[in-house]
Amino acid sequence: MDKNSNIIKFESLVPMEENINVTNNKFKKIMLIYSFALKEIETRINILRDEFKYLYNYELIYDIKTRIKSLESIISKMTRKGYSITYGNLIKNINDIAGIRVICKFENDIIAIKKLIKKIPEVKIIKEKDYINNPKESGYKSHHIILTVPVNLLENITYVKVEIQIRTIAMDNWANIEHAIKYKPIHNVKIKN
Ligand code: GTP
Ligand code: MG
Repeated sequence: MDKNSNIIKFESLVPMEENINVTNNKFKKIMLIYSFALKEIETRINILRDEFKYLYNYELIYDIKTRIKSLESIISKMTRKGYSITYGNLIKNINDIAGIRVICKFENDIIAIKKLIKKIPEVKIIKEKDYINNPKESGYKSHHIILTVPVNLLENITYVKVEIQIRTIAMDNWANIEHAIKYKPIHNVKIKN
């Protein structure tokens, strides 16, 4: 069989104008492709993590977490941002369907991790946000990179967006607590005596 060198746009795999229908196979296929992209970048970063440890006996990366955005969050984000719920808007405008968090111990580690990720072959940087030197109003700190990774499908190769958040353990704990305060008012739950 010929080598797989047929690079196609992700958009061409998707009925761009159609409304998202979750019971439809097209939605499943799109989410599956995002999960492939996430596995791909997770593996690359895990290799960097292990080789760094082996070469320098230093734990540059402390933890890696991945998640695929839930349907509920996808719909609420698209609604909040005023996009009609089409496949086109999903893949063009929602950058964090596939998300990976890389957690380290020190702020200086973030700089090294960022450099190593940028050196991964065939990864293309789409957008970068430095909330470490420019924290958000909330106090949120992290380094964000939106990039595309190649996904090798049976018939073709396509580039898929992934959001990477690089942050220290302290920044991660802060963000998790702040998120919990903002979205999950558990303290409103009254437990009976
Ligand atoms: P959204 O914030 O996701 O609508 O998209 P955006 O394009 O404005 O991107 P941004 O880089 O600001 O935020 C992306 C992600 O960073 C969010 O989905 C959160 O995971 C995280 N984030 C951004 N701001 C905050 C914040 O104030 N608190 C917490 N806990 N997380 C944040
Ligand atoms: Mg997000």
